[in-house]
Amino acid sequence: MLSIDKSLQFEGLDNFLYVSSESVTNTILLVDDEINNLQLLKRALRGKYNILTASQGAEGLDVLKENIEKICLIISDHKMPVMEGTEFLEKANEIAPDVIKILLTGFSDIEILTDAVNKCNLFQYIMKPFDPNELINVVESGIEKYNLSSSRSLMMKDLRELFYKTIKSISATLDAKDAYTHGHSMRVTLYSLMLAKTLYPDDEEFLQNIEIAGLLHDVGKISIPQRIICKPGKLTDEEFQIMKSHPVCSEKLVDNIKQLGQIGTWVKAHHERWDGRGYPDGLKGEEIPLSARIVAIADTYDAMTSTRSYRKALEHMEAINEIERCKGSQFDPELAQKFIDMQDLILQAKENPEEFYAKYSVLQKKVAENIHNM
Ligand SMILES: [Fe+2]
Repeated sequence: MLSIDKSLQFEGLDNFLYVSSESVTNTILLVDDEINNLQLLKRALRGKYNILTASQGAEGLDVLKENIEKICLIISDHKMPVMEGTEFLEKANEIAPDVIKILLTGFSDIEILTDAVNKCNLFQYIMKPFDPNELINVVESGIEKYNLSSSRSLMMKDLRELFYKTIKSISATLDAKDAYTHGHSMRVTLYSLMLAKTLYPDDEEFLQNIEIAGLLHDVGKISIPQRIICKPGKLTDEEFQIMKSHPVCSEKLVDNIKQLGQIGTWVKAHHERWDGRGYPDGLKGEEIPLSARIVAIADTYDAMTSTRSYRKALEHMEAINEIERCKGSQFDPELAQKFIDMQDLILQAKENPEEFYAKYSVLQKKVAENIHNM
């Protein structure tokens, strides 16, 4: 049976792809109020699995909670005093939706059984008296299903983590090209997320894409010579033309990853201006994707409030006044106003970017979440 070796944490692609063929001993919870039935079940499954038992529903729930990391399958009797098997399994399903649930029943009423299957997320019911071989077959296929879904979830979690860490590394590498832009991409992403959240606070997909766009907006600068990026003085016209090629290059790089969908178009447009005097396409007003209009404000605010090789940082209020001045020319007036309205929060974020980023990041949250929610 296949299982991910959990001792191998994310340390590299080899480990990430590693799947162990070593078998693990699975833990099964048996719940039955009749001692003889419990003994019968234990005997049928003896030697192959770790067995935990409970003689009633409430006790079964306690055992499940205490051993939630271990239990992969539950077998419950149907007819039990105080809490019936279906009620127990329904509650168990709320605690551990991915654990396989099997009901042992003497009922043959198809309506009752169908209802139980749906309510309890039953893998299968087995009629009593049960045939031990049938029981073993059902348990084995249940455990196989559980292990496959766990492996898939772990793989998904690792893939998500790999993706997140990769784009964070790319943007950090980019910022490291110039000592003056340290942390720039992360802060642009943070301010973009904060502004986007005022528009669509619950649209997780939009916020996640804004985060990716923020982290990768300048990725095309990888193609710009270091002497231009770090030049202490004003760029010549020729150098400026080279610098202006970075949004198109960002788009090309992002478009290589088809899963990133339209984010390529967004990063290409982050130097467009509301009045149409931006680059590379001279897009105007709402022709510019919303996310690019958001990133443009965040990018400019961070550029103004950071010291660069050719000038000192502006104070927060000077940058806010500049955004106010450029409302409707460089920036989407409504978005710029929203940014100005939340300036106190922006200032706090500027002073504690790591702390605020952890609070606003959608990707970080998803990586940290329990695998079952992914
Ligand atoms: Fe840029």
